[in-house]
Amino acid sequence: MGNRLRSAFRLLSTPLQPDDYTRLVNPLWSKRELRGQIERVIRPADDAVELVIKPGWGVPADFRAGQYIGIGVRVDGRFVWRSYSLTNAPRSADGMLHVTVKAQEQGRLSQHLVAHATPGTIVRLAAPAGDFHLSEPPAPKILFITAGSGITPVMSMLRDLDARDYRGDVVHLHSVRDRNGLLFGEELQRLTTEHDGYHLTVRETGIDGRFSIEEIKELVPDLDDRAIYACGPSKMLDELEANLPKVHTERFTLERGSTDAQGGVVKFPGRGEVEVDGATTILEAGEKIGVQLPYGCRMGICATCTQQLADGTARDLRTGETHEAGERFRACVCVPAGDVEIEL
Ligand code: FES
Repeated sequence: MGNRLRSAFRLLSTPLQPDDYTRLVNPLWSKRELRGQIERVIRPADDAVELVIKPGWGVPADFRAGQYIGIGVRVDGRFVWRSYSLTNAPRSADGMLHVTVKAQEQGRLSQHLVAHATPGTIVRLAAPAGDFHLSEPPAPKILFITAGSGITPVMSMLRDLDARDYRGDVVHLHSVRDRNGLLFGEELQRLTTEHDGYHLTVRETGIDGRFSIEEIKELVPDLDDRAIYACGPSKMLDELEANLPKVHTERFTLERGSTDAQGGVVKFPGRGEVEVDGATTILEAGEKIGVQLPYGCRMGICATCTQQLADGTARDLRTGETHEAGERFRACVCVPAGDVEIEL
């Protein structure tokens, strides 16, 4: 029996909501959530996939080069969410969204997608977002510093500049452990050949080590005149931020300890309480004592972990914003600022 038919039988045995009827006709129509369908799966390397996703009803079609999108995929019966940089240029004629996913050692979803992504799969989406994007208009001189899969948002920027026939000057310093792991190698080569203003240096860190700040200053003497965008491991970004005040950076991990929340006792009425520090999220606090709140992305994207505060103050690790009693908050990115009680 086909999947569509099976779900029709299942739905007919329970009261149907309007959304259920539309899903039967077209699985991309849903007013409850944003969805997309994997149209194509391209394999640029053994450990990476480029997914071409057809956005469903309500997914904003426009984004800015460098932004990311949240993707939720069912893995072992539960939705797992992560954010991935969009890698295509905005305003593409076919309206598709592209993401390139490299399997990460600890990455449950990235490993799943690299091994199992197939055309036709329906995924949940969160709207494109992020402050890491090209300025409008793009600066006349740009420096990109990327490492590993940190090249993905910059690939969207390069494709955007290519599509606009940008005539400025771009220096791109990219690091990979070894050349076999280089994503987009052929396309980078094409851009180098076709655009006199694009200057790419690829560094194999396994042989030559990573770019030091001194080397960057030597290679790019007009640093101060350039818009600088960097994406890669946290350690690299920390060093760049400490030395290049103008740098725009993109990180895909939750920054901890970026607020002065002091921590406190987190109470889950009827289920227990636990004292945690100001870098432990309320989701993690619950997990410490066996209170499993629902979660998806664990990065503040999908809203699966949204809870209501009964008492106290919670602080968002990403923004420093506070939530008070009676307000809803995302447990995966909020920490207690003093004692708090969660409404269960
Ligand atoms: S788990 Fe996705 S927003 Fe918290």
